[in-house]
Amino acid sequence: MLLSIENIEDVLRLEFRKQVVEPGIQDAVTFLRRWSYLSSQVVRLHGAALARIHIPDIQYLLAEIAYGECGSGNKSKIHSKLLLELINQSPNAQLITQQIDPFLAQFFEHTISHLSQMSQDEAIGFIVGLEAPAYDILHLLKQSFIAVDIPEIDVLQSEYFIIHDAVEKEHQQSGHEAIEIIMANGCQLSKIHKGGDYAINFLITMVGNTVVV
Ligand SMILES: [Fe+2]
Repeated sequence: MLLSIENIEDVLRLEFRKQVVEPGIQDAVTFLRRWSYLSSQVVRLHGAALARIHIPDIQYLLAEIAYGECGSGNKSKIHSKLLLELINQSPNAQLITQQIDPFLAQFFEHTISHLSQMSQDEAIGFIVGLEAPAYDILHLLKQSFIAVDIPEIDVLQSEYFIIHDAVEKEHQQSGHEAIEIIMANGCQLSKIHKGGDYAINFLITMVGNTVVV
């Protein structure tokens, strides 16, 4: 079967759904703790991937995603800060903001190193994989915030979710632009798939319930 890049995104999204969404979040505190950590570190993944990219149009797209994560020129709107503001509305905030398991922090560092050595096409695939389940993750986050006793209305009206509901649409838009550029530059789909698989397994380890900590 010939894989198209849209197929690759669908395959990656399905894998995330099977491993994380379908089993459901058993422990909202742990999920939010891990996501908060990942959110505070995610631009390092964009940066490591960017270091591998030779094509200026794709450099631009990656820089744009990272710039958005960093608040689009407004330091107080850094996404991980907005997330923390919402976390602090929970009676469990102290528990959520505890440090993550050292194994996961180490695993994150290992992923950065590995990503820094990927080929360009694999690094593109990694970012495609990282973005593929974005809507699913936003949904899991909403459920988790409600589970840690933040009223649903406050969750939905929080700056974090208002910005993300809009931003994720832009990310998807950049994703489609990226696909066109990737195809025009003859990138290898098998390598993109490989990098994407790596990203999905990374996400599953970071926020799935399969790891016993
Ligand atoms: Fe974000």
